[in-house]
Amino acid sequence: MKRIAVLTAGADAPGANAAIRSIVRAAYDMDMEVLGVRRGFSGLLNDDVVILTSKSVSGILPKGGTILGTSRTQVDEAQVQTIREAMDRYRITALAVIGDRETMEICDFLSKRDIPVIALPLTIDNDINGTDVTIGFDTAVTTVADALDKLHTTAEAHHRVMVVETMGGSTGWLALYGGITGGADFILIPEVHVEKERIVDHIFKRREAGKDFSIVVVAEGCVMSWLPVGETGVGHALAKVIQDATGMETRITVLGHQQRGGNPTVQDRLLATRMGIELVTAVKQGNVNKMVAYTQGQYQLVNLDLASQVKPTDTNLYQLAEIFY
Ligand code: F6P
Repeated sequence: MKRIAVLTAGADAPGANAAIRSIVRAAYDMDMEVLGVRRGFSGLLNDDVVILTSKSVSGILPKGGTILGTSRTQVDEAQVQTIREAMDRYRITALAVIGDRETMEICDFLSKRDIPVIALPLTIDNDINGTDVTIGFDTAVTTVADALDKLHTTAEAHHRVMVVETMGGSTGWLALYGGITGGADFILIPEVHVEKERIVDHIFKRREAGKDFSIVVVAEGCVMSWLPVGETGVGHALAKVIQDATGMETRITVLGHQQRGGNPTVQDRLLATRMGIELVTAVKQGNVNKMVAYTQGQYQLVNLDLASQVKPTDTNLYQLAEIFY
């Protein structure tokens, strides 16, 4: 009987549990067994492995986090043999890895050393190449949009500029999607360099038009030549620059880890569920060393070296967002 070992690695994101549940349920449905590896790859290196049954995943579909725990444990050449031995000892047919972009690099590394790996993309950053969307992104975008809705009312009441810093790593997907859906008045992302004067002029124009408040969204990974980012991060630096240049009272909200928390949206539950079934089907057919992707409305398997690369934000969408400034 084929046996899948599932683990979650790297940064968590809402929908991880939905993906674990889907893999477990689909595997038993297709006559396979499932093991759960705790705390990412460290569970394989330290023999922290449990049997997962349908009962183990009961009730976890709507829950954030991951019942298996996660870690950013790296795997080096010396540890490959330990992993290989664990795979043999537990008679694992394929290692199902649910994780972020850095985790896809580990999967690629292992697959090139004959460890049968099959991956699901899970990150609020949406920065994994080869898939249009990652599990967790929709929930995080919803969190950002909700925050902007709330910040709008207080910004308007106090005639303030609100700077909102989002996560997103080195990419601007979360800032852009959150900014568009939350009605931001300006969005700054790492992939597009914008001069300070453009933001300041825009805030002034809004004021002349009778809108004496503004919401500016900035992705944490932004590096602009005019922005002196210190230890407090890009949002604080931007708020100071804007306040000094406009004279308007400016406040900063760093959304932080709440963007990684909470219950997954229905879209993330569905994506995780569908991707889990695709993963198990692939293992059943003997297809490994791939990542399940959702591209142009289709579920497909993509190569892990492709998935390991950073997917930069869609700059066409960034241009479109400017229509609404
Ligand atoms: O990759 C997900 C992410 O949340 C990034 O957006 C962020 O830069 C990073 O992880 C934060 O990591 P940590 O939880 O280690 O602070």
